Amino acid sequence: AASSSSTVRRNPSFATLNSDDVAYFKQVLGEKNVVQDEDRLESANVDWQHKYKGSSRLLLLPRSTEEVSKVLQYCNSRRLAVVPQGGNTGLVGGSVPVFDEVIINMSSMNNIISFDKVSGILVCEAGCILENLILFLDDQGFIMPLDLGAKGSCQIGGNVSTNAGGLRLVRYGSLHGNVLGLEAVLANGNVLDMLGTLRKDNTGYDLKHLFIGSEGSLGIVTKVSVLTPPKLSSVNIAFLACEDYLSCQKLLSEAKTKLGEILSAFEFLDGQAMNLVLNHVEGVRNPLPSSMHNFYVLIETTGSDESSDKEKLEAFLIRSMESSLISDGVLAQDINQASSFWRIRESAPEALARAGAVYKYDLSLPVEKMYNLVEEMRVKLGQSAYVVAYGHLGDGNLHLNISAPQYDDEILAQIEPYVYEWTSQHRGSISAEHGLGLMKANKILYSKSPETVQVMASIKKLLDPNGILNPYKVLPHSLTSES
Ligand code: FAD
Ligand code: MLT
Ligand code: ZN
Repeated sequence: AASSSSTVRRNPSFATLNSDDVAYFKQVLGEKNVVQDEDRLESANVDWQHKYKGSSRLLLLPRSTEEVSKVLQYCNSRRLAVVPQGGNTGLVGGSVPVFDEVIINMSSMNNIISFDKVSGILVCEAGCILENLILFLDDQGFIMPLDLGAKGSCQIGGNVSTNAGGLRLVRYGSLHGNVLGLEAVLANGNVLDMLGTLRKDNTGYDLKHLFIGSEGSLGIVTKVSVLTPPKLSSVNIAFLACEDYLSCQKLLSEAKTKLGEILSAFEFLDGQAMNLVLNHVEGVRNPLPSSMHNFYVLIETTGSDESSDKEKLEAFLIRSMESSLISDGVLAQDINQASSFWRIRESAPEALARAGAVYKYDLSLPVEKMYNLVEEMRVKLGQSAYVVAYGHLGDGNLHLNISAPQYDDEILAQIEPYVYEWTSQHRGSISAEHGLGLMKANKILYSKSPETVQVMASIKKLLDPNGILNPYKVLPHSLTSES
């Protein structure tokens, strides 16, 4: 694993953990929720990609908001830095310590608090695993407004804290719209009860939005309320091939107008990404095996009328074939085939992780321009690395991934700052959905103005004056380190 601390210095104003601290935590949380076991610490110190590694000596497992509050109040008064952790599937080095920060893992707060079948509003604790919520709702005839490949491990609190986008955003919008309320604990232990369940509430500043996407830097999210859509009876998935990027774009415009209200996902992967998935992930088969194509597109529709929805999609596919926007395609015939199509797209991060070292870029860019960057990177890098692209085309979100045998400063110098500058020139975002974490804390100015970042730093100072919450992440180190 690459060390994460190479360019950051430990903030000397933070205390180091001592035996009195451990004794206090044991008294508050109970012996078994204060983890010092080497093996468990080892995995909690390393991120999903094995790219970032901290050296924390302590993992805490609070079971209630009150316990989170006591722990934070204590850490704040002692100036012990902490890192909030959910499922540890984050991709920007935000969920693991950089140095010896105490890890506060939310997995023991995993209760569903209430579900209102009329409004579809779910209230639950932050540590609920996304897939468990999906399964719970399925029984009730509802779905989560977000879905992502990491669903089996990621937690709703982590999703909210990263403002995760995922595979359904094109239909249901972001968590800024779907999270109706939340409860968060500030660094000083104060509990902010913003756990509303109202669709409309214009009473002053809507502070919950500060916690959506702030990556644990302003507080620990302990509970959330989410607006969930009803489960509709008809879901269809097509796996399609396009021969050039322009066709993918045209297909997207067509899908938006012709499939309209039933369009629920529009995802793409290029031939290079498909290759990587087929070569590195077991049990994945190419549903269009007759030849390799330059681009693959996955279109899902979700609606309430089985016969007319299917007719609509079939007509759309025939037209797209006739106008040569697609060169091949297949419609899932049953639920197994549907999930095998999704598996191909969702396996892209896993395939990359297996293939070697990965430089990951998660960019929002104008759709018509985004693939130019991928092609430029291929030319720049030549044989030294393998460039793959996939992502949420329907949302203008490109996942540009550069796979190399190992992390190599020369390769990195070919990629950065070029990719960030290119994105900035096109007024894109250097983090569409993964957040900034440690990886991009010092890069924020490529996407936000200095005045905006200054206000962010002021808000951070107001809510967390000692800077104990997820230090070295999100904001530039020059603005947050004590001098
Ligand atoms: P963690 O990784 O544990 O933490 C993420 C950040 O949130 C950290 O900064 C952490 O400090 C903070 N945090 C966690 N819990 C809390 C809390 N309760 N209170 C305050 N702060 C907290 N992201 C997308 O947006 N779209 C995708 O499609 C997508 N697909 C993915 C697929 C795979 C296979 C993987 C590995 C990751 C994917 N991701 C995706 C990345 C993504 O950010 C997450 O998977 C998810 O949202 C993180 O949730 P988590 O519980 O694992 O959080
Ligand atoms: C995805 O869309 O697959 C995720 O955001 C993960 C990734 O970018 O690799
Ligand atoms: Zn994604």
